[in-house]
Amino acid sequence: MDDYPLPDPLPDPAEPAWPPDPPGQEQPAGQPVYRPAREDEHDTVAALMMLGFGQPQDAAGYAERSRGGEFRVLAAGGELVAALRLGRLGQWWQGRRAPSAQVLQLATAIEHRGRGHAVRLLDELLAELHASAVPTVTLFASTPAPYRTAGFEFAGTWTRYTALAEHLPRSTAPYRARRLVLDDLDEVRALYDQVASVRHGALDRDLGWWHRLVGREPAGTALLVLDGPVGPAGWALIAFGPPEDGWRVRISVHDWGCLPGAEPALFALLSGYGPMDGRVSWTGPDPDPALLVVAERAYDISSRDHWMLRVVDVQAALAARAYPEALRGTVRLRVEDPRCPWNTGAWLLEVSEGRGRAERITSARPRLDARGLAALFTGFQDPESLAAAGLLAEAQPRELSFLRAAFCSRRPWVAEHY
Ligand SMILES: CC(C)(COP(=O)(O)OP(=O)(O)OC[C@H]1O[C@@H](n2cnc3c(N)ncnc32)[C@H](O)[C@@H]1OP(=O)(O)O)[C@@H](O)C(=O)NCCC(=O)NCCS
Repeated sequence: MDDYPLPDPLPDPAEPAWPPDPPGQEQPAGQPVYRPAREDEHDTVAALMMLGFGQPQDAAGYAERSRGGEFRVLAAGGELVAALRLGRLGQWWQGRRAPSAQVLQLATAIEHRGRGHAVRLLDELLAELHASAVPTVTLFASTPAPYRTAGFEFAGTWTRYTALAEHLPRSTAPYRARRLVLDDLDEVRALYDQVASVRHGALDRDLGWWHRLVGREPAGTALLVLDGPVGPAGWALIAFGPPEDGWRVRISVHDWGCLPGAEPALFALLSGYGPMDGRVSWTGPDPDPALLVVAERAYDISSRDHWMLRVVDVQAALAARAYPEALRGTVRLRVEDPRCPWNTGAWLLEVSEGRGRAERITSARPRLDARGLAALFTGFQDPESLAAAGLLAEAQPRELSFLRAAFCSRRPWVAEHY
């Protein structure tokens, strides 16, 4: 219960129109063909995926939790050799909402591993996303190797914190808590849209996402809203794990958010479990603003992971995010992206009034690797760190300082583990 990953939260709202396979395309001796999984292949894909993840006993459950249209496969000789499950939620980047995609799971059939299928699947996915004007794609990786080869890099955090309830702030004033029934989501969804706009990397959750979240909650889960002087200011969805030692209460905040100023009150909602030696866990950015309200040194990171990002389209991605309002200027970059050749080449990035615009030019330095661009895009790594890692080269001090200023960001993080 402490770790509460949401492995299947992202439905695919928009199914792309897809032409049927040309006759004779799946030749046994030929290259595997990339395409969406057909409805009649759904159970086979689910079995491939769950065997890949070492949970073959859950294949039927996984098939039930997912939909055929979410999968892309590589097929050869009438056999499926690899598959991925795709989410198509937008993401918020520095206060701006943009189309995005999420690789939820990816597996190569055991007997077909080590032949480049995972990377090929990703290459094909990138071409598909590019064709449908999706500028970024994100994922959590069990191993970074195939994703790095495909141009992904670590770009943000997922962190679960744990604190003793007795160390949380005590007063909710001037806010008051109110309980909602679990499927009464309108207020919380409206709040989320306000909160997500200041969470760098947050998913643009749709109604299906919310239904999946509350649909899997155990009995006894409570949805609380904080009312402030001018209306609802926060929410917390809390569930209780089996008590430790028969009595210590474990409270897992499965989802939360609040408007500026309400965070101490949100924590204070749970401080009443202090006398029961309550232990509270939640996900947040790293470092967490909770440092400012929880008693010093009184909370731990109980679980953490990093997510990866791929810039699918340089021009669209650089235009999609926001930049510091006070910054005005230009920088030249040579993007090196052999797997997405439409990105490769010299670009002039112009930043002014919080917006960025990239235009093709004939030549440029410094050189920026696609992976470096991914980590720079969210501000997860600064240009100096990218240069140290060899992902940014030939940058002069003026270019380094401009890039640092332009991509300086809020902490990139996501609340859900997908
Ligand atoms: C990980 C997995 C998808 C790789 O599939 P694959 O088709 O064998 O991978 P590829 O042949 O395309 O190899 C791509 C790269 O990943 C590396 N790689 C493959 N399997 C790896 C593993 N288990 N650990 C570390 N690196 C691995 C390869 O060496 C290759 O590296 P390179 O590009 O630097 O040469 C496959 O082993 C699998 O399905 N595993 C179980 C499910 C899983 O872990 N999925 C990933 C979840 S995010």
